[in-house]
Amino acid sequence: MALEKYSLKLPKAVYSGKESMDNIPEILKAAGAKKVAAFTDKGLRKLGLFDLVEVQLKKSEVEFDIYDDFPAEPSYQAVQAVIDQFKGKGYDFIVACGGGSVMDTAKLASILVTDEYGVKELLDDPKRAKKCLQILTIPTTAGTGAECTPNAIVGVPEKEVKIGIVNDNMMSDYVILDARLIENLPRAIAASTGVDAMCHCIECYTSNKANAFSDTFALRGFDMIMNNIVKACDDKTALTEKNNMQIAAFYGGVAITASGTTAVHALSYPLGGKYHVAHGTSNAMLLIPVMKMNAANEEFRKRMAEAWDAAYHGDKKLTTVDEKAYALIDWMDEIVKHLEIPTDLKEFGVKSDDLEGLVAAGLQQQRLLVNNMLEVTAEDARKIYLQVMA
Ligand SMILES: NC(=O)c1ccc[n+]([C@@H]2O[C@H](COP(=O)([O-])OP(=O)(O)OC[C@H]3O[C@@H](n4cnc5c(N)ncnc54)[C@H](O)[C@@H]3O)[C@@H](O)[C@H]2O)c1
Ligand SMILES: [Zn+2]
Repeated sequence: MALEKYSLKLPKAVYSGKESMDNIPEILKAAGAKKVAAFTDKGLRKLGLFDLVEVQLKKSEVEFDIYDDFPAEPSYQAVQAVIDQFKGKGYDFIVACGGGSVMDTAKLASILVTDEYGVKELLDDPKRAKKCLQILTIPTTAGTGAECTPNAIVGVPEKEVKIGIVNDNMMSDYVILDARLIENLPRAIAASTGVDAMCHCIECYTSNKANAFSDTFALRGFDMIMNNIVKACDDKTALTEKNNMQIAAFYGGVAITASGTTAVHALSYPLGGKYHVAHGTSNAMLLIPVMKMNAANEEFRKRMAEAWDAAYHGDKKLTTVDEKAYALIDWMDEIVKHLEIPTDLKEFGVKSDDLEGLVAAGLQQQRLLVNNMLEVTAEDARKIYLQVMA
C-alpha cells in the first residue's frame, strides 16, 4: 500500500519556562527588526500584562506602535479595520500578545501588507496570501494553539458563522510561552480555553487525518491537559501546571496543523457565529455529546482507548477497548462539570425555533466534518444540539 502524505510544520523557535519573555530582544535582533507593530487587547493592557512585553520592546532598540482596538472573536470587517490602520506604516515585524483573537488578527495582518487582497478576498481564496512580515506570538490563554497553527478564525456576520482561513504563510516564526501571562487568568477563561485545547488534542487524535506526526503531539498534549487542567484552573499559585497547560495547548496547535479537528469544532462554529458563545465554551458544551455520538464507531473507540492508556496514570485496571473508551468520556465529563463551564445554550438566547438553522449551519462545516470518523447526518447534528438546548 502506498504511504500517505504527512507533514509537520513548526515555528522556527519556541521559548518557554522561567521568564521566557526576556528572549524578545534577542529574537528581534536575530530577525533584523527595526519597526514593530505590537498587537494586544485593551483588557490585557488594563491588567498590565502587556507591560511585560512593552518593557522588552523598549530594551530592544526598535520603534514600535501598539494596536489594541478590536473586539474579542472579531468579524472579518473588524480585522480589516485594524489592518487598514496598520498597513503602509513600514513595519518589518509583528509581535502579538493575547488570546486566539489577538493572535489571529495579528497573523492576518502579517500576510496583508498589500493592496492586492484583503480579509474578505482571503475568505474566498485563502491560498492567494503571501508571507509579508515575520511574527512572534505570545499566547495569554492556554488555549487555542493559534500561536502555531496556519489558521485564523473570523466571524462572517452576514452569514452568521465563523470561518477559518488557512494558509501556511500565517505560521508563526517565533513563540514565547511564559507562565506569568496566565498566572491570573480568570478561572472561567482558563477553564473554557483549557477545554478548547483538550478538544484539539482528542479531536486530532481521533480524526480521519490523524497521522504519526499529529499523534505524538495530540497524545502527549492530551495527557498533559487531563493531568494539569484542574489544578491549573483551581490554584492560582500552580505555575508549573499552568506552564504545562501552555505547552500542551501548543502541542494541540501542532496537532491541528498536522491533522485536523472534527465534529466538536464543526458544530461549535455556528454557536460562535450566530450566538457569540465564546469558542472554548461552545466546544466544552459539545465535547461530551459528540464523544458519546462518535463512540458508535469502533475505530473511534480504539483511538479513545489508546488515549486513555496514554493519559490515565491512576489505579483503575481497565482491560477492554470499550471500558477504556467510555471511562475516558466519563473522565472528560467530570472535568468539564468540575470546571463549571456553562452547558446550556438557552443561557445564550438560543430558542427551540433556532434548531433547524443550527443544524443547517453545522452541516456546512464540511472542512472539519470530513475529519470525523463517524459520518455526521442532519439527524445526528439535531440530537447533539438538542442535548445542549435542554
Ligand atoms: N487560529 C487557530 O488555530 C485557532 C484555534 C482555536 C480558536 N481560535 C480562535 O481564537 C479565538 C478565541 O481565543 P481565546 O479562547 O484565546 O480567547 P480570546 O482571545 O477571545 O480572549 C477572551 C477574553 O480573555 C481575556 N484574556 C486573555 N488572556 C487573558 C489573561 N491572561 N488574563 C485575563 N484575561 C485574559 C481577553 O482579554 C478576552 O476578553 C476565537 O476567535 C477562536 O475561533 C483560533
Ligand atoms: Zn478550538
